[in-house]
Amino acid sequence: MNVNHEDELQALRAALQCRLDQLLPAAEQQDLVWTAMREGTLAAGKRVRPLLLVLTARDLGCDIEQPGLLDLACAVEMVHAASLMLDDIPCMDNALLRRGKPTIHRQYGENVAILAAVALLSRAFGVIAEAQALPHDCKTQAVAELSIATGMQGLVQGQYRDLNEGAQARSAEAILVTNELKTSRLFDATLQMAAIVANASLPARQRLRCFARDLGQAFQLLDDLADGVSGTGKDLNKDHGKSTLVAILGADAVRARLRDHLRSADEHLAHACEKGVATRRFMHAWFDKQMALFGQDRPQSLTEY
Ligand code: IPE
Ligand code: IPE
Ligand code: MG
Ligand code: MG
Ligand code: MG
Repeated sequence: MNVNHEDELQALRAALQCRLDQLLPAAEQQDLVWTAMREGTLAAGKRVRPLLLVLTARDLGCDIEQPGLLDLACAVEMVHAASLMLDDIPCMDNALLRRGKPTIHRQYGENVAILAAVALLSRAFGVIAEAQALPHDCKTQAVAELSIATGMQGLVQGQYRDLNEGAQARSAEAILVTNELKTSRLFDATLQMAAIVANASLPARQRLRCFARDLGQAFQLLDDLADGVSGTGKDLNKDHGKSTLVAILGADAVRARLRDHLRSADEHLAHACEKGVATRRFMHAWFDKQMALFGQDRPQSLTEY
C-alpha cells in the first residue's frame, strides 16, 4: 500500500477527534460536569492508545473502515482521559497543567473533576455496548478487557500503589509492578480489543500481551524522563521526591532499560502482526521522536521492517 504514513496518521487523528466529539456532543447537556468531560477528552492529547488500536487492528487484517472500530478506540481514550483527570486532583498528584491547559479541577473544581471522570468511565463502557456494528460477543470481550484494565487489576490498583509507595523508597521491582498496573494494562486492553475485532489467533493475542507489557514500561519510563523537560503541556518536575526508576537508577540506566523494552516490544509486535507494519512504523517513529526530545541520545537502530 502506497500511503504516506504521516498523512494517514493525521487523517486518523482527525477521525478520532470527530468521533469523540460526536460521542460527547456539545449540545447534549449544559452543566459543568458534561463540559469537563468534553474538555478533558477533546483536549490535545497524543492519542497513542486509540491510534494503536486502529493501526494494530488493521495490521491484523481488519478493514480500517470497519464500523465500530473507531468507537472502541474512543472508549479507550475516554478511560485514559478519566484516569488523567483523577491523577491530577489535589489528593493525588496535585497537578496544575494537563495537555497544555489548566487541569480540570482548577477550571471547574474538584467535585466536578471527580464526577466527570466517573461519568467518562461510565460513558466509555456505554460507547462499546452501543456500537451497533460490532457483534455481541466481540463487545462482551472488549468490555471484559477494558474492565480489567480499569479496576483493581489495572489503573486503580496501579494508581493506589504509586501514591502510597511512591513517596517512600521502593525497589526497582516494586516500581515495575506498579508501572505494569498503571500503564501497561490499558495498553494491554487496547491491543486485545484490536485483536478481538480482527479475530486474531491465540498466539497473536499472546504476543500482543507481551508487546503491551514492554510498551507500557517503555512509555512510563519515557514519561518519567520527560518530567524535568519543559514544553510537555504538564507541570515541570512533578516527580520531585518520588521514587521513580529515574530517581533510583539515574537517567542513563533508565534510557538503557527503555531501549531494551523497545527492542523486546518490537520483536513481539513483529510476531503478532505478520500482515502489516503500520503499528511498527508508528512505534518506531513515535519513540524516535520522543527519545530525541527527552533522552539525550537516540535509540540504537531498531530492527528493519
Ligand atoms: C500520560 O499519558 C500518563 C501516562 C501513562 C504516562 P499520555 O502521555 O498518553 O498523555 P496524553 O494522552 O498525551 O495527554
Ligand atoms: C501515569 O503516571 C498516571 C496514570 C496512569 C493515570 P503519571 O502520574 O506519571 O502521569 P502524568 O505524568 O501525570 O501524565
Ligand atoms: Mg500519577
Ligand atoms: Mg501525574
Ligand atoms: Mg508522569
